[in-house]
Amino acid sequence: IRYTEQYRPQYHFSPDSAWMNDPNGMVYYDGEYHLFYQYYPDSTVWGPMHWGHAVSTDLVHWQHLPIALYPDSLGYIFSGSAVVDWKNTSGLGTQENPPLIAIYTYHNALIAEAGGVDVESQAIAYSIDKGRSWIKYEGNPVIPNDGNRDFRDPNVFWNEDIQKWNLVLSAHDHVQIYSSDNLKEWKYESDFGVDAGGHGGVWECPDLFPLKVDDTDEAKWVLIVNINPGGPNGGSATQYFTGEFDGRKFNADTKETKWLDWGHDNYAGVTWADVPKEDGRRIFMGWMSNWDYAQVVPTKKWRSAMTLPRVLSLVKKKDEFMVRSTPVEEINKIINTETVISNQVKSISDEAVLNTNGINLNQSHLVFDFELGDSIPHEFGIILENNLNEQIKFSYVDSTKQFQFDRTQSGNLSFSEKFAHISTAPYQTGSTLNLEIFIDAASMEIFVDNGDLVMTEIFFCTQPFSKLKIFSNGQAISMTHSQLAEIKSIW
Ligand code: FRU
Repeated sequence: IRYTEQYRPQYHFSPDSAWMNDPNGMVYYDGEYHLFYQYYPDSTVWGPMHWGHAVSTDLVHWQHLPIALYPDSLGYIFSGSAVVDWKNTSGLGTQENPPLIAIYTYHNALIAEAGGVDVESQAIAYSIDKGRSWIKYEGNPVIPNDGNRDFRDPNVFWNEDIQKWNLVLSAHDHVQIYSSDNLKEWKYESDFGVDAGGHGGVWECPDLFPLKVDDTDEAKWVLIVNINPGGPNGGSATQYFTGEFDGRKFNADTKETKWLDWGHDNYAGVTWADVPKEDGRRIFMGWMSNWDYAQVVPTKKWRSAMTLPRVLSLVKKKDEFMVRSTPVEEINKIINTETVISNQVKSISDEAVLNTNGINLNQSHLVFDFELGDSIPHEFGIILENNLNEQIKFSYVDSTKQFQFDRTQSGNLSFSEKFAHISTAPYQTGSTLNLEIFIDAASMEIFVDNGDLVMTEIFFCTQPFSKLKIFSNGQAISMTHSQLAEIKSIW
């Protein structure tokens, strides 16, 4: 495949054509990372949902596969997860050839149109051929709806501590937790969230998993809950909680909301199941868009892309636990080492155009280190610009102690009133600041200080970027290092 369309990402996953939203059913099995996704093959806007499918052996290069699940008489196929049923607890495979089990939501559009509440229920399908073909279980739904609005997005995992399956799903303004011995019969255990977290919108796509606290032997449980609208910068976003989980009930350390990503465009993200223990990583991927405008962004043949896969880790700062995200290291192999340009110490006041040696900034990896003295410039940051003076600007504003991502001059803005908005993220800087940035056509993912803060944003400049600038207002900023390189296409 060679993608040449305007705005087509070259190293992020996007569907070959048509509409895509949430990543679904991410599971690793027999050397392959599976990625399913909410897919409507007949249009570039949302419609009756299918599960699209792709696989990768390295989390970088993806191969498109045929659609895995089609809607049927029970409904559209909404978001969900997948696991390897290693012990064949479901009886749907064999001990020697354990089945892959997908757990998804049926969304019944007829009930929805008639104004019913019990629109959604949970169902399973299985594969005994490495995910290439799927058979829907005859006893579906496995969790019927007994009067819950927005009852969806089941996420299943094997819980070593209790030697059972657990499932977490979203139910409008909270999550529900279930347990099972065989993936077919589910027992309701508890609720979480009516009195915790953000409530500016509907809770969707939860994920619950243990994570070791960096540099300790302590483990905590992390609960991801996507919410739409109600994000910190409007529309869709991903919140998380840390706490304890005993197989029945989740107890959060604090009821306050924490955000996994402060940008506009990282939604419905969850993590891979069954990543081998020797690897041990908790790998996350999100949908790089926002329901505020996802259906009207100016791409023609397809809509949306996924974020880069990211490793989640847990750190303790003072008495608080926080989740860090960093890009998976596999990405390094597509950084084109022949194009690397390093710049040494430089004191920059006002504005400096960096030497980019003509590299393609539209598929690039940028790393910057700054030294922050006792007093920080009023505002400093980076600007990417094209020949039409369309630009995106990412900066730190000292008076408000915030990062800002400004796409208000980024070219094509007319498709939605909600798009030309500056997102902000609170951040307390240390004595140095490290920025790692991935640009791919129409997106930018920014990892601050090794993933302590992340912002993911999309934009639609009408011409490629031709200039990279560092600017500093108020006083000079000391840039101790910068490294720029092109990233190769994965297709
Ligand atoms: C999140 C979501 C899910 C639902 C799916 C439908 O973006 O609304 O809650 O399962 O999309 O496509």
